[in-house]
Amino acid sequence: MTQAVTPDRIMQLGMAFWGSKALLSAVELGVFSELAKRPQDATTLQQQLGLHPRSARDFFDALVALGMLDRQSGVYTNTPETDFYLDRAKPTYLGGWLDMVNTRLYPFWGRLTEGLRTGHPQNEVREGHNFFEDLYSDPQRLKTFLSSMTGLSMSASKKIAAQFPWGHYHTFIDVGSAQGGLAVQVALAHSHLTGGGFDLPVTGPIFQEYVQSFGLETRLKFYPGNFFEDPLPTADVLSMGHILHDWNLEQKKQLIAKAYEALPRGGALIIFESLIDDERRENAFGLLMSLNMLIELPGGFDYTGADCTEWLREAGFQETRVEHLIGPDSMVVGMK
Ligand SMILES: C[S@@+](CC[C@H](N)C(=O)[O-])C[C@H]1O[C@@H](n2cnc3c(N)ncnc32)[C@H](O)[C@@H]1O
Repeated sequence: MTQAVTPDRIMQLGMAFWGSKALLSAVELGVFSELAKRPQDATTLQQQLGLHPRSARDFFDALVALGMLDRQSGVYTNTPETDFYLDRAKPTYLGGWLDMVNTRLYPFWGRLTEGLRTGHPQNEVREGHNFFEDLYSDPQRLKTFLSSMTGLSMSASKKIAAQFPWGHYHTFIDVGSAQGGLAVQVALAHSHLTGGGFDLPVTGPIFQEYVQSFGLETRLKFYPGNFFEDPLPTADVLSMGHILHDWNLEQKKQLIAKAYEALPRGGALIIFESLIDDERRENAFGLLMSLNMLIELPGGFDYTGADCTEWLREAGFQETRVEHLIGPDSMVVGMK
């Protein structure tokens, strides 16, 4: 029997931004942080959040229907997921990434068609600014961006801390460390390791503040530098998370070559991203992330595990392996 063709999937995807924006606005308004304090009925929650009464109930019930809130006898609560990840008061808060998505990516993705036609970024760079320089000239935006990275990479960071054979090594440095999300997870899980993060000097105080909040400042140091202008610091293990996809092919290869140079014999390079599957047909998140690089940067693109393996071999790495981490994220490991 032939299956009936329906427009359901098309309509669902075509309108997916409605649900997406409802969630992003809920994070912006602090709905989940408010409900984490105590369950509330619609009127109390509407007043606490300073919302107009017209659509408040529909907004809260849409979040119920989308699986982001629960409601019993007219009283709203967070789901276990939203309570754990979207309450600003918890260290597990992931909303930094969603805040960045809401304030920057949401409007910029409205210009995707133009990006596809021209090949040019559609973010602040459109107004002639340099992406990192512009973002980093404002301390508040810098902090928001760096903490959003911690949120985006948290699950993968925990998985790398658990999955990589850290027992074989003594030192590690995360290159392009942002706030220090990966460095902290690795240090928390392996007390014999010391190391730190390498990133642009302006990010140093934010890295140090984050590391101190875990009491890890004696084991994790900040290494300031520019990875295109300075040599990379040396350690038994170097890692690069969501770094290579920012840059064009030549720059990607340049960064891999620099890591190879900095590693001792027997050292390892871990590269992790939302790697596209080799067949380029399954990891929609990885493929859309690559379109996000079109929106954000002049030459960036995401790539498959096979692509990265080829670049690592070209740079001289003897052994390589690709391992799935969690969700859309995988890592490529190269051994010198
Ligand atoms: C997309 S973020 C990735 C952050 C983190 N590794 C993660 O996976 O969450 C890219 C990082 O590279 C850093 N970066 C950009 N250009 C750099 C440069 N020229 N030298 C050193 N770090 C740079 C940025 O400051 C930022 O922390």
